[in-house]
Amino acid sequence: MVTARAAILRECPGSLKIEDVDFVDPGPNEVLVRTVASGLCHSDLHWMQGKYVPPLPIILGHEAAGVVEAVGSGVTYLKPGDHVVGCLSVFCGECDYCVTGRPHLCREPSVRVGPADPPRVQTVAGGVQQGGQLGAFAEAMVVHEHALVKIRPDMPLEQAALLGCATITGVGAVINTAKVPAGATVAVIGAGGVGLNVIQGAALAGASRVIAVDLLESKLELATRFGATDVVDASNCDAVETVKDLTGGGVEYAFEAIGLTVTAEQSFAMLTRGGTATVIGLIPAGQNVSLPASDLWMAEKRLQGSSMGSNSFRYDIPRLVDLYLQGRLNLDDLVSKRIGLDEVNDGFAALERGSVARSLIVFE
Ligand SMILES: NC(=O)c1ccc[n+]([C@@H]2O[C@H](COP(=O)([O-])OP(=O)(O)OC[C@H]3O[C@@H](n4cnc5c(N)ncnc54)[C@H](O)[C@@H]3O)[C@@H](O)[C@H]2O)c1
Ligand SMILES: [Zn+2]
Ligand SMILES: [Zn+2]
Repeated sequence: MVTARAAILRECPGSLKIEDVDFVDPGPNEVLVRTVASGLCHSDLHWMQGKYVPPLPIILGHEAAGVVEAVGSGVTYLKPGDHVVGCLSVFCGECDYCVTGRPHLCREPSVRVGPADPPRVQTVAGGVQQGGQLGAFAEAMVVHEHALVKIRPDMPLEQAALLGCATITGVGAVINTAKVPAGATVAVIGAGGVGLNVIQGAALAGASRVIAVDLLESKLELATRFGATDVVDASNCDAVETVKDLTGGGVEYAFEAIGLTVTAEQSFAMLTRGGTATVIGLIPAGQNVSLPASDLWMAEKRLQGSSMGSNSFRYDIPRLVDLYLQGRLNLDDLVSKRIGLDEVNDGFAALERGSVARSLIVFE
């Protein structure tokens, strides 16, 4: 058994409390990981704000990298000492989704711990759930081996953590979900941790225009460092009209990386004929997006969602690592601040204010 400190959400809405937790020894196909770094994603903030209610209590955090400490029976893919990135897209490898190349849509219960299953984490007050099947705001994690990908040991683990959500979600939405071709015109609404990765994904794909839309000048400045060719400050203009003016009628690909119905509708409205809008942001359950229906048949516009960048993360993440080590993927500028686990609530307050791209918890 391993004891570690973890940030737990016990009430929703609520803030995180740092508590000591005990991890069970890794069982069959499970792995004990010492967490090195863990990023603060807006999806966790949605949970803390009660926009979605997770099973409670729960260790949040789902964007992490670390080092394997021990493996349970049957694990042959990993061994102690391996460097790994976690991803919440745990896959079974056998269901219809997995065998048709869409493992990010797998929801197979046998590779997950549900609220009715014996938990892998205990406190004096009882069992605790793991957010995204990871629970990465903790000094250690016991997870299914199919929640992990092995990476090159020369990849810095702090930057590697970001690959597990922000980067796979953003770059994956461009490359895997929308399949943006070279030369295409792209607009990205929301230039936070995920949106900046959409921007650099579009630049990697060879988009001819990458238009970043945000309300904050600081985010638009950052966006140019990630490959934006144009920036639109939506706090002082109509984002849709401005994007249409900049492109002579609209973009071929638009992305929403905030989680609001109004910006999802904007992403569709700023498309040219034949364009595709991809919604990444977590719009709260129960809300509806409204579209002018004639745009579907008359202009052949499309609206689609993207979950975790439609990843096959054991394929995608090692390639993103190579791109970083070749200087072609910017992870360094995503980390606005390095913090300790005790500062996690302050980190989320900064995310809510919009003053950071990502805060990264670095464990000692
Ligand atoms: N689909 C997925 O698989 C997936 C994965 C990870 C995160 N997400 C979601 O993606 C969204 C973005 O996450 P993040 O971590 O990048 O958040 P973030 O807070 O870092 O970024 C949001 C950005 O949007 C900007 N913004 C807010 N309102 C705006 C408006 N009306 N117009 C233009 N810009 C506006 C903010 O200034 C900020 O820069 C969240 O909803 C998150 O839950 C989805
Ligand atoms: Zn996330
Ligand atoms: Zn599956």
